Amino acid sequence: MHAIAGFISLLGGLSLAVAAPTQDNITDDSHFFGQSPPVYPSPEGTGSGAWASAYEKARQFVTQLTDEEKVNLTAGYNADNGCSGNIPAVPRLNFPGICVSDAANGLRGTDFVNAWSSGIHDGACWNKTLTYQRGLHMGGEFHRKGVNLLLGPVVGPIGRVAEGGRNWEGFSTDPYHSGVLVYENVRGIQAAGVGTSTKHYIANEQETNRNPESVDGLDIASASSNIDDKTMHELYLWPFQDAVRAGSVSIMCSYQRINNSYGCQNSKTLNGLLKTELGFQGYVVTDWYAQHGGINSANAGLDMVMPHTEWWNSNLTDAIANGTMEASRLDDMVTRIVATWYQLNQDTDFPSPGVGMPADVYAPHDAVMGKSADSKEVLLQSAIEGHVLVKNTNDVLPLRSPKLVSVFGYDAVSPDISLKKFQGFSQTIGIQKNHTLWVGGGSGANDPAYISAPLDALQLQAYEDGTSLLWNIYDVDPAVDSTTDACLVFVNSYATEGYDRVGLADDESDALVTNVANKCNNTVVIIHNAGIRLVNNWIDHENVTAVMFAHLPGQDSGRAVVELLYGRSNPSGKLPYTVAKKNEDYGSLLRPTQPESPYGLFPQSDFTEGVYIDYRAFDQQGIEPQFEFGFGLSYTTFDYSSLSIDQINNGDTSSYPPSAPIVEGGNPHLWDDLVEVSAEVKNSGSVDGAEVAQLYLGIPNGPVRQLRGFDKVNIPKGESGKVEFKLNRRDLSTWDVTAQQWLLQSGTYQVYVGRSSRDLPLQGEFTI
Ligand code: NOJ
Repeated sequence: MHAIAGFISLLGGLSLAVAAPTQDNITDDSHFFGQSPPVYPSPEGTGSGAWASAYEKARQFVTQLTDEEKVNLTAGYNADNGCSGNIPAVPRLNFPGICVSDAANGLRGTDFVNAWSSGIHDGACWNKTLTYQRGLHMGGEFHRKGVNLLLGPVVGPIGRVAEGGRNWEGFSTDPYHSGVLVYENVRGIQAAGVGTSTKHYIANEQETNRNPESVDGLDIASASSNIDDKTMHELYLWPFQDAVRAGSVSIMCSYQRINNSYGCQNSKTLNGLLKTELGFQGYVVTDWYAQHGGINSANAGLDMVMPHTEWWNSNLTDAIANGTMEASRLDDMVTRIVATWYQLNQDTDFPSPGVGMPADVYAPHDAVMGKSADSKEVLLQSAIEGHVLVKNTNDVLPLRSPKLVSVFGYDAVSPDISLKKFQGFSQTIGIQKNHTLWVGGGSGANDPAYISAPLDALQLQAYEDGTSLLWNIYDVDPAVDSTTDACLVFVNSYATEGYDRVGLADDESDALVTNVANKCNNTVVIIHNAGIRLVNNWIDHENVTAVMFAHLPGQDSGRAVVELLYGRSNPSGKLPYTVAKKNEDYGSLLRPTQPESPYGLFPQSDFTEGVYIDYRAFDQQGIEPQFEFGFGLSYTTFDYSSLSIDQINNGDTSSYPPSAPIVEGGNPHLWDDLVEVSAEVKNSGSVDGAEVAQLYLGIPNGPVRQLRGFDKVNIPKGESGKVEFKLNRRDLSTWDVTAQQWLLQSGTYQVYVGRSSRDLPLQGEFTI
């Protein structure tokens, strides 16, 4: 089917019965037959709700601009500073310009900033308050450096493809979980007066063919993520909806195509879903060089191009003069951009754009402090809580006053980071072989103020408590001292923007683990993993007594893991993805879609699995995972009891949401709470701990179970705590394609509460 479409297009559109081209594709893809229905004109920002005053000021500002100034505000220019992108100043109106910079885990490419934990790590914490705090403190750093817009957080990719190169930048493979956390994160960052550009909109699920390429003289378009409307709403759009609701002032459109129309000129996703259905008030900015058409992209809903544009410039005013574009569209683009500046109060006391951030960090410049001493606690706590303990035979952990600890593995030591802009854009063997992994590669690779590598932190621990240490970092088959109490093996699993991963495990690290385990009967494996890491080659080895997925903790990595290993902190992280027993269990979602040959000019990636990715797919197909979504151990145990389910807001059970004017995030009634669930959790072990209680719902006509609530509670040993979940209208609804609405389903809803997606001791139901 797709090959035929590509073939026809090569022949210049012979008269076969195919759909007419949509307007989205005409400018640059005129030979391609798209499937995204056109949605025009582009809705103007209304300035409703919390945006009213910012819009009023922005509209007033825009009336004072010349056409040239308006055009200049819609595209980046080279300001020769360290910002990822810049919008020029309008000095006569005291507008200093805008600096936008990466990324969602810390400010990239500069000094005096912290390297925070990455999205996957934050996701593994399952801690809403911490996600907010992490955002607030990180946002403060961007603010002090004069960065108006943080290019993050990431909810796309969501992790459809297990080997996806950028899954680690986002929180989780679950839309609800991603949605809850992106909401907190956006609010946290923006509370620091810095905007967020939630990215990459939308369905940017693989790095392979993310951009057009020229191969042997043939122009190959980027991959097209082909998605049906229901899947779009229930999976991919869901977390973006939460980001918009949180007030994310910008959305970054993605590189790849969606239903055959480029992400930054797709009128269905931009004008339709984002600006009409979700009532988005901010501006859409391209991913870097993701613009593929001129006026058409503006008409499709794009507001700003980065890092510069070849297509717009004076063509915008020419297009207005010749009637191809409405003047009101340009005014709307500029109003949306300037309104965000007012919305975040950046018109008062905001540092100059990119202050203390030269393009070359070794060029003379002022030392401008981004980081702040009061972030220390949050930085460390967010590093600690993203560790997930998955095996702990006979409670070998925490270590109890060990006499001798042996440390192995290339991942235990710190790298040379004298060169800022650590990026590591390369993916050949699947690991970062010479140092510990605190972050993945690409534009999300952050710059630490220091690194606490595992071995560094263990040395400090040894100094404090008299533990003796031995270490052998680079041997794959090291000798083991027979008196050692524990062998700690540090390995990693790398991923980077630009490439999908070469595998979910690597031979060298697996050999190291097995070799150590063959000689050491208390082998503890710690994996810094930028995504799913399979462990089947050694997980059942009797000497592998404990395993921890350490994810990407940021610069406090070693300190955090030692807190956990020595029991000063109790593990409380849970997996935000499914670890399979073998590659094949991910089925067609293991690897990215490759371009077909010989008709690979328009690579097609059909999302035929619908919402059945990750645990939904494992549940649907009855595949037993190695470690299920939501799983994670603690040094204590938790018992669940007293499930209670109450239907609240009686009377509001009509399948349609009451109609109401659209606000940011869509119909406000989607957030009406309809059901309240609570349960009691008892800490039945011998140490204090925190539990992430999870609620899964079996919605009539939906997947077996879907996450629809989680609550992290600290519970002292021997005590009990109450966990509470509120289920709103969207949580209980499914997207109805015919009605173009979220509809409640009539029937019986199954409620499950417990420790993970498969360990659910409490079960109940309610009927609508
Ligand atoms: C490309 C990446 O896809 C995006 O995430 C990033 O923000 C921009 N480059 C700017 O560096």
